[in-house]
Amino acid sequence: MYDINRIREDFPILGREVYGKPLVYLDNGATTQKPRCVVESIADEYYSVNANVHRGVHFLSQQATNLHEASRETVRRFINARSISEIVFTRGTTESINLVASTFADSQMKEGDEVIVSVMEHHSNIVSWQLQAARKGIRLRVIPMNDWGELLMDEYERLFSPKTKLVSVAHVSNVLGTINPVERIIEIAHAHGVPVLIDGAQSIPHLKVDVQALDADFYVFSGHKVYGPTGIGVLYGKESWLDKLPPYQGGGEMIQSVSFEKTTFNELPFKFEAGTPDYIGSTALAKALDYVSALGMDSIAAYEHELTVYAMQRMKEIPGMRIFGEAEHKGGVISFLVGDIHHFDMGTLLDRLGIAVRTGHHCAEPLMRRLGIEGTVRASLGLYTTKAEIDVLVAGIERVRKMFG
Ligand code: ALA
Repeated sequence: MYDINRIREDFPILGREVYGKPLVYLDNGATTQKPRCVVESIADEYYSVNANVHRGVHFLSQQATNLHEASRETVRRFINARSISEIVFTRGTTESINLVASTFADSQMKEGDEVIVSVMEHHSNIVSWQLQAARKGIRLRVIPMNDWGELLMDEYERLFSPKTKLVSVAHVSNVLGTINPVERIIEIAHAHGVPVLIDGAQSIPHLKVDVQALDADFYVFSGHKVYGPTGIGVLYGKESWLDKLPPYQGGGEMIQSVSFEKTTFNELPFKFEAGTPDYIGSTALAKALDYVSALGMDSIAAYEHELTVYAMQRMKEIPGMRIFGEAEHKGGVISFLVGDIHHFDMGTLLDRLGIAVRTGHHCAEPLMRRLGIEGTVRASLGLYTTKAEIDVLVAGIERVRKMFG
């Protein structure tokens, strides 16, 4: 039983008002709100345990280390990784992709080699590779999509050549909501002997993810998009791949021994965790993962699916509505424009009604170019979004539309 009213009570911020109106928070694609257990975990750990991890013989350090490593195990279980050696804590999706881009390009690629991405990638999965293109002379190949926002799988297959060294695609588009067929994408890449990185920033909060079932070589996500804290994220990598990659940053923690002549590196996953990790964040992230697991990822997915179908149907009733992204498999991200109303005007006026949406290019300018627009208004749903909030959104859009005549 998915008790939405009870669930909402876990998120104190949802009870606040904006401009005297009840907050309708529909910017979950950008970041999610935090349940009490996550916020309390941060305060509790600072108040009662705080000490640096992996370094101290003293009690607090060991307790903090135990919490941090238990969190790694929680992440492992959440995505069903084979081993905790495969779970690297990073600052988030962006850092995880940059880590792989930098170390993979350095160790596995040479000038002229290619990475396949898709037209609907977030800038973090484009620019990270372009930085390597500038350094190493590697090239990007781009999977196109149809007008519904679905990747063209035949075109994808045609992009492979002996120069293809990696495929890096989003599981769910942050603009279109498209749930990409990542199982098939991985299967095809593996048939060509090419590993795959999946950007899970927009999927982890909404879908059950099993990295072993997917056979993903790398899977990355951010804590703050899955009801956890900001500043922490995850890089999952198959041990065989992480072993092959060189360290990303140098510092404490990632070494075994250091002399001025030679340094040897720590075992996985510590080889990639230079410096003091966000051990407060990792505990809070584990709390968030426990929270969504207790609700059940399948229940969350079913609830959000029903809500998305309802929202799409209601929004299409609005005259002049253009929705970008109508894939058969679509998550709760609805990008739209109404008539000639500029996305920024729509977003600003909805805000005055207490409705928080994102406007602009959503860090996906190449996708905007493909769609032939500058930006959209984006409503993105979360596990606590209600049908009543969708109704408020629809009424708000109608009101703005009428204001513009
Ligand atoms: N990537 C986040 C979004 O799509 C910030 O809003």
